[in-house]
Amino acid sequence: MKKMGLVMMLIFVLSILGACSEKEDASAPVANNENEPENEVKIDQELEDAKAKFEPLGEIPVPADNPMTDEKVELGKTLYFDPRLSGNNVQSCMSCHAPGAGFGDGMAKFIGFEGFNGPRNSPTIINSGYYPTNFWDGRAGSLEEQALGPIQSEAEMNQSLDELVIELNGVPTYVEQFNTIFNDQISADNIAKAIAAFERTIVIADTAFDRYLQGDEDAISADAKDGMKLFAGKAGCISCHAGPLLSDYSYHNLGMSGDDGRFGVTGKEEDKGKFRTAGLRGVAHTAPFMHDGSLETLKDVVMYYNEGGGDHGNKSVLVKPLNLTDKEINSLVAFLDSLSGELPVIETPEIPKN
Ligand code: HEC
Ligand code: HEC
Repeated sequence: MKKMGLVMMLIFVLSILGACSEKEDASAPVANNENEPENEVKIDQELEDAKAKFEPLGEIPVPADNPMTDEKVELGKTLYFDPRLSGNNVQSCMSCHAPGAGFGDGMAKFIGFEGFNGPRNSPTIINSGYYPTNFWDGRAGSLEEQALGPIQSEAEMNQSLDELVIELNGVPTYVEQFNTIFNDQISADNIAKAIAAFERTIVIADTAFDRYLQGDEDAISADAKDGMKLFAGKAGCISCHAGPLLSDYSYHNLGMSGDDGRFGVTGKEEDKGKFRTAGLRGVAHTAPFMHDGSLETLKDVVMYYNEGGGDHGNKSVLVKPLNLTDKEINSLVAFLDSLSGELPVIETPEIPKN
């Protein structure tokens, strides 16, 4: 496999070298006659090959035991915004995953219960229902499982589930809603199900990049197209950011130190410093980046990869200096921008009274 990759890379690099020597002459007339259709019929094989490596996102998977209904999603949204979910009734899910901050919090690392300084970045919940595991280190197996984590975490919402159920039972609207939707009483399980159903509606699937894949040639800029070629070729991003979500759903070490990541879940030495590959649709809305929020802009991210990542001893062999030019770095950023789409618009729900 690796050999194949190297051979492919070599062919690829040679083809770029070939293309570059011709480029000087070819680019001048194109720039002057931007509207001339002849220039556009010329097929860019490298671009076509890159494009063929991507796929659309498709529908979000829904677990059989938690079907989506409008009423359940609405209840989940209300719970997501309700500060009753925290022990001191101050923070809600939305405190750290705010619609106006790309469903994250815009900070490098989260600020938790009563000012606790969190060790990691609050990730976006956009498209989080597509991952087979949740959290930066993949320690939760589903959104249902995930939702009960922050509620109970002393660092985050610091609320016992028993107390939460008692508290929500004091709200007649909730009692009635749980009854109608689940044909059941309020329980931790049903709270998690409703929140997860809401989260599954926070999706970005229709980006300029997706419209380009569907055949709209003008959906993304020439720069973004160059970036797509780099992403799928020379820059090697697609070795990890592959498949419908642009994540291999696996864990890699990019060279960052200070957090054991996946090792904390598996206890395996080989997992030290590994984190789950982030999906990239919507990415321009969710700065700062990485599990520690250490990279502020998408350009910083590309420069980080270009320099070959950090110096953690367990760094992936796939992360190595890329020798990209400034123009190539900007093209990769333009490609990441083309993946960003529109933030889902959420109307703030009314929190029911006791
Ligand atoms: C105090 C800030 C804070 C609050 C409040 C909070 N979260 Fe989070 N959330 C985080 C952080 C930080 C992580 C990443 C933790 C990690 O990976 O170790 C996270 C991770 C997640 C993820 C995983 C995303 C992924 O890509 O897998 C989801 C989903 C999520 N939170 C939803 C919620 C929900 C639902 C609530 C309310 C019940 C909530 N969060 C409350 C900070 C917060
Ligand atoms: C070895 C696998 C691998 C390669 C190669 C790789 N990535 Fe990543 N990428 C990851 C992982 C893992 C994360 C999450 C790391 C973390 O949180 O610390 C990530 C995170 C990101 C993020 C931040 C997402 C966020 O929400 O914080 C961006 C943007 C990104 N990668 C773009 C790229 C680009 C562009 C390239 C090519 C230059 C690339 N990646 C190459 C595995 C990889």
